[in-house]
Amino acid sequence: MSNLEFQSPKGTHDVLPLDHQYHTYIKKAVRHRARQAGFKRIDPPMFEERALFERGIGDHTDVVEKELFTVSKKGADDKDNRDYALRPEFTAGICRAYIEHAMDQLPQPVELYSIGPCFRYDRPQKGRYRQFHQFNFEVIGLSDASLDAQLILMTWKILSDLQIMGRLRLQINNIGTAENRKEYVAALKDYFIGKERNLPELDQKRLETNPLRLLDSKEEDTQILLKRAPTLDQFLSDESKKYHASLLEYLDALDITYEENPLLVRGLDYYNQTVFEYWDKSTGAQNAVGGGGRYDSLIETLGGKSTPGIGFAGGIERIIWHMKESGVEAPNKDQVDVFVAQLGPEAKKKCLVLVNELRELGIHTVGALGEASLKSQMRLADRFQARYALLLGQMEVKEGTIILKDMVAGKQKAMKFEKAIPEIVKLIGEDNLDTYSIKDKLGKYADPGI
Ligand code: HAM
Repeated sequence: MSNLEFQSPKGTHDVLPLDHQYHTYIKKAVRHRARQAGFKRIDPPMFEERALFERGIGDHTDVVEKELFTVSKKGADDKDNRDYALRPEFTAGICRAYIEHAMDQLPQPVELYSIGPCFRYDRPQKGRYRQFHQFNFEVIGLSDASLDAQLILMTWKILSDLQIMGRLRLQINNIGTAENRKEYVAALKDYFIGKERNLPELDQKRLETNPLRLLDSKEEDTQILLKRAPTLDQFLSDESKKYHASLLEYLDALDITYEENPLLVRGLDYYNQTVFEYWDKSTGAQNAVGGGGRYDSLIETLGGKSTPGIGFAGGIERIIWHMKESGVEAPNKDQVDVFVAQLGPEAKKKCLVLVNELRELGIHTVGALGEASLKSQMRLADRFQARYALLLGQMEVKEGTIILKDMVAGKQKAMKFEKAIPEIVKLIGEDNLDTYSIKDKLGKYADPGI
């Protein structure tokens, strides 16, 4: 037991600078692929009315039944009697926003992406946290198997860009229409009549509330009983079968390898037709790095017009775990290029200006500029892992010089003070300076004459 008075709450993590390198890298890959495919960013609020999640995701899903973080309004003195919950995922909130902002008036499909924290009050364990981060895509407004294929391709590319696709397997299934599933659920319930008592307690309850969840039950007894049970694909309509066949044809044309998994049903109620997940090759269903599927009635369920959609979310922590396992390093953009050390009031003033000038040029510069001895400042430069150090003592101020030290080679030389900046720029290389370009500031199509 630690004797710290405060620690981060159970199931949460501080994203420390080293992990941020991974987060930044993943966000970059996501943004890049999203923009290539015409997606625009949306950030729904981190909390919404609890009823939105209940209705959208489903009352009898684990996410809603057990894992919603309710927001307490204790102390608030307004008359708002609605209940709120932290978002356990993005899809319900984004569909709410699609309706609220009349996005049906935009050219369809509307393609939206998000990156941010989600919250599920689950029992914390490896890869399962109470606060975690997702990147999320939604394609709303059209239903066509080619859209499903394009979304799958994009997620596949991101996981390949991050160099972990080799560790994963794409699982895919078609769970038919709501009517198909209704008939199937009735058949499944029939099959289990008289066998209920052989099911583990949790699955007995599921048989009552959400029988489809039995299919991906981790309980061995359930899986044994299921071997003789009717299967969902026997109940798929011709339309669903045709849809699935087209999707597989498109995936083949795109050279995407997948595994058809007739037991894949996903844990959220809004899906129909296509569902897919990326599984760890070695551990299978547990800790998927991402999953998604089609949800053609969700928007109507939430009070909008009948509007189809498909989406996907990836779990950033699980992806980082895979990257680390396979030795993929995220680039470190936080390196210190130059450490500035000084001694005496005159040197301090000159260095204050020098540090600012270096930073303006895009050189990562640290200058403690305290009163410590030059020796201890140099020790600090070492601990910051600075590539170069600039030293300005009283003598150098008098002579108008400065000392440049290569911290890796351990060599140093004196030079004219004015030469220090051009010399550092040369050493680091113009291309490596951390600057904004005009293009970034003004936007791609800004008038170059401005
Ligand atoms: P989901 O399968 O519930 O789907 O979550 C997607 C991914 O989020 C999971 O595969 C996993 O990597 C990560 N994840 C989920 N829960 C946790 C947790 N407790 N700790 C760490 N990582 C977690 C959805 O959320 C759907 N909204 C995806 C979607 C978008 N479907 C259509 N559009």
